[in-house]
Amino acid sequence: MKKICFLAVLLSLFTALPAEEYLLYDFENYEIGTKFNLKNVPGRPVGEGSYAVVAADPTDSNNKVLHVLLVNSWDTYPEYPLPDGFTAADFCTYQSVAFSLYRPQVLPKNNDYMQTAVWLGDKKVYQEEHPNYPDQGPRDTWLEKRYAFTPVETEASNFLLGLHSDNMEYYLDNIRLVRAEKGYDYTDETQTLRYYVEKCGNGKHIGVATPSSWKNVIDLNNDLHDMSQTVFRNFNMVVAEDNMKFAYIEPSQGNFEFGYTDALVAFAERHGMEVRGHTLCWHKQLPDWVTTSEDRNSHNYSSDSLLSILRNHITTIVSRYKGQIAEWDVVNECLADDQGNLRNPANKDKYFLRPSVWSKGIGAKLEWSYDNTGGDFIDSAFFYAHRADPDAKLFLNDYGVECGGRKADAYYNLAKHLIEKKIPIHGVGLQCHFDAGVLDSAGLVRQIQRFQELGLEVVITELDIASSGKQADEFRTIANIFMEQENCSNMVLWGVSDRDSWRNSSPLLFDADLAAKPAFFAVRDALKRQYVLSVAPVPNDARPQSPYVDVYNLAGQKIASGMRRESVNFLPTGIYIVDGEKVMVR
Ligand code: G3I
Repeated sequence: MKKICFLAVLLSLFTALPAEEYLLYDFENYEIGTKFNLKNVPGRPVGEGSYAVVAADPTDSNNKVLHVLLVNSWDTYPEYPLPDGFTAADFCTYQSVAFSLYRPQVLPKNNDYMQTAVWLGDKKVYQEEHPNYPDQGPRDTWLEKRYAFTPVETEASNFLLGLHSDNMEYYLDNIRLVRAEKGYDYTDETQTLRYYVEKCGNGKHIGVATPSSWKNVIDLNNDLHDMSQTVFRNFNMVVAEDNMKFAYIEPSQGNFEFGYTDALVAFAERHGMEVRGHTLCWHKQLPDWVTTSEDRNSHNYSSDSLLSILRNHITTIVSRYKGQIAEWDVVNECLADDQGNLRNPANKDKYFLRPSVWSKGIGAKLEWSYDNTGGDFIDSAFFYAHRADPDAKLFLNDYGVECGGRKADAYYNLAKHLIEKKIPIHGVGLQCHFDAGVLDSAGLVRQIQRFQELGLEVVITELDIASSGKQADEFRTIANIFMEQENCSNMVLWGVSDRDSWRNSSPLLFDADLAAKPAFFAVRDALKRQYVLSVAPVPNDARPQSPYVDVYNLAGQKIASGMRRESVNFLPTGIYIVDGEKVMVR
């Protein structure tokens, strides 16, 4: 046991995440020549000549390691009893399995497949997923490997760990479990959310709202701060949950407070993240000098005065961050909740605006904004923003419009209308503050696609889901939709930790200690799945094929499991599906 993983120890000194390790096997207490059982997972016989035996380290004869040779033994792994008193449940309290791997130079006839898998009893907890099959790194040298696995419920008293191949040779040492305090280790980028989004290379962002300054839970100037690390390691987009709203950024007329935004922009630049600006024109969180009422122009400003206030506000902020803030929620929640009159066929292309200082004080024809032209506050807000930063993407943002219904139709009508008027709008935000169990995923997909037909991007802008038994599944579904829908460019979580959420329903991915919840793993799985699908498979003839196949008839019924590939030729005459392709047996 010489190749101790110093890296983990070093990392733990410099980060807030001390990793705890449990050594399972270093083979030092075994006699050279001790055999470990080789187990074939589907239960086929292990190929003759295969073995797993304690041997001397090929690079250091004083060190003992496990030497594995597989001959015609697809799906075969060494089997290790769990230590006395150490259960499968104990195993699952850790998040990663780590080991040292040595692969000698490739042997003739070696069709080395190089895919690591870990099983607890008969349950797979990890398998490297990659259509190209991973490059395990250089041969003839010891390498450190570490894989995050998925916990399972089992009473197994053994585990399997090895590389998946038909014929291959490798050595293992120092098999150990690594526990990260937070349920995952954010210092390992392959365990984070942004890693998989960025690997897909489709330009999408996974974002998060950073808590208000007075909550005092994030230090944007300190990259060692725990919440800062949680944010920049997992997300590649940030939004200020409150601090860029009118009341906080222009608390008195013409006096701007840019401290938080400056720090957020600098934080994002340091960590290669984008910033969404939220929000330029909203009926809430306005300073008293603009209005003391959410639905009235309480100071009776003239239309021109309000336009001037809006122009100065938007122009000052957007110009200051030109080129630094990628996109803006320009107009937020401008639609009335009740779009009831849309039932009248004559109104089917229209929308109702909510009463606000902006709609009442600026809009000339308030109830039917459809007929308004340049004087309307929505048009003006978009123009001011566009003039200040022609490259920034500009969005409407609203709630209750995500999965269909009258307000969703009104939202579509409004966006379409803005496009027809050539207002510089690039997309719409679907906030997605969901209650438990109400997700209509088909409706969400329809709504996203409807905006694509208008040439608009869609951003999931404020995702949170009230906790329930299905919370993780619902997060997974939405993350899949985000990744699958081409025009769904970004997905933003509305807060980091449940502790600081504006809702009391534990609706986020991290708990009060910033530990990852099942919802985190569900989102990560969805992002990872898309990454795996996005990597083009190598041509069939360039990768080794499993010698065992499942065979289906043309009706899609499985007629044989794990049949040796060459045996397919001896099936009755007919057409079969093998590895997704038709095979004719004559
Ligand atoms: O400003 C005071 C501050 O001075 C005081 O110290 C603090 C003490 O609790 O309260 C502060 O006001 C709070 C404000 O957030 C800032 O934290 C309000 O009480 C609180 O109601 C307000 O909530 C925010 C809410 O918008 C306001 O409508 C939430 O944090 C924020 O998450 C929420 O975000 C909105 C989006 O912007 C738009 N879509 C809906 C979403 C959820 O409501």
